[in-house]
Amino acid sequence: MPTSKYSVICSAFLFLFTFLVFLTEAAPIYNYHVCTDSITYKKNSTFEANLNLLLSSLSSKASLGNGFYRTRTGTDTPNVVNGLFLCRGDIASAACHDCVAAAAKEILRRCYVKKESIIWYDRCLLRYSYQPLNNIVPGVDLRNDKNISRSELNRFNELLAGMLNSLATKAANSQDKKFATGELNLTSTETLYGLVQCTPDLEFFDCNMCFRSAIAYIPNCCDGKQGARVLLPGCIIRYELYPFYNNTIAATAPPAIEPRPSGRSRFSVILAFIIPIGGSVLLFVMGFCSFKGRPATSMIKLKENEFN
Ligand SMILES: *[C@@H]1O[C@H](CO)[C@@H](O)[C@H](O)[C@H]1NC(C)=O
Ligand SMILES: *[C@@H]1O[C@H](CO)[C@@H](O)[C@H](O)[C@H]1NC(C)=O
Ligand SMILES: *[C@@H]1O[C@H](CO)[C@@H](O)[C@H](O)[C@H]1NC(C)=O
Ligand SMILES: *[C@@H]1O[C@H](CO)[C@@H](O)[C@H](O)[C@H]1NC(C)=O
Repeated sequence: MPTSKYSVICSAFLFLFTFLVFLTEAAPIYNYHVCTDSITYKKNSTFEANLNLLLSSLSSKASLGNGFYRTRTGTDTPNVVNGLFLCRGDIASAACHDCVAAAAKEILRRCYVKKESIIWYDRCLLRYSYQPLNNIVPGVDLRNDKNISRSELNRFNELLAGMLNSLATKAANSQDKKFATGELNLTSTETLYGLVQCTPDLEFFDCNMCFRSAIAYIPNCCDGKQGARVLLPGCIIRYELYPFYNNTIAATAPPAIEPRPSGRSRFSVILAFIIPIGGSVLLFVMGFCSFKGRPATSMIKLKENEFN
């Protein structure tokens, strides 16, 4: 009887499809990288050995469930490598490990023999440097190219700013993860989802400054867009009109393919974002003055890229 044959074939296809969807969903999604220093190391050098040691150490720590680890390898100054990873606060340790392992591999390829780099994935960030972290560091912004309608824009911006600022306050004040998500009903059918996170080694002042400068950057990069991320070495913020993180509601809902922004998103590199440890007047000024007039950061528009 063909019916049963069909159903077997259909089941097989369905299984395969589900499996592929699962794989697609599980595969770490690369966002962006910046090779932040043009200085290079030599192949087979002590520095390379220390870097490999650092990256494998970060990968192995990523499965322990902290979602963050910062370390250094090497003892003699020119060969010391500092590094850290941060997984998004809603990510389970297995997915965190996958993300960090992928990032560790990819950063070596994308920033070949560079002594300082950073890479962001959807679910983690990883960086290393031959110098202490938190010097002159870049950031990037990614936009969802879908627009908010003009008539809604003022209200949207007001609600968005309110949401992000309150999430930032909540996360900066929190003790452990420095992570917060929130939802807000815009209309009966539209919900705004937001997420903010600092690396947990930042003190309140630095974390808060990082958030404020990221939020302040949104009007410059992403005004009128339905979603955006600002990715800095010390913190990330993101908002969308669809649920993009794992909250308890999402966890009980049927598994869905992570929705992606439709069409293309543009990346731009925000150069010279300075996140000094210990706080700095410069960042303070940047964070608050970029609301008005020209942003204090210089921005280089890169060529348009496919989002993923
Ligand atoms: C590095 O070491 C490997 C194995 O020892 C060797 O095959 C390779 O040629 C070396 N590369 C350089 C650039 O010295
Ligand atoms: C979502 O979060 C729940 C609870 O924290 C966890 O059990 C689940 O594995 C998470 N799902 C994914 C896909 O990470
Ligand atoms: C959004 O608006 C911009 C400028 O107003 C326009 O160039 C772009 O095509 C719009 N994008 C979409 C997806 O409608
Ligand atoms: C948002 O809307 C949903 C469904 O319409 C409702 O269950 C929820 O309570 C609303 N949330 C808020 C904060 O109003």
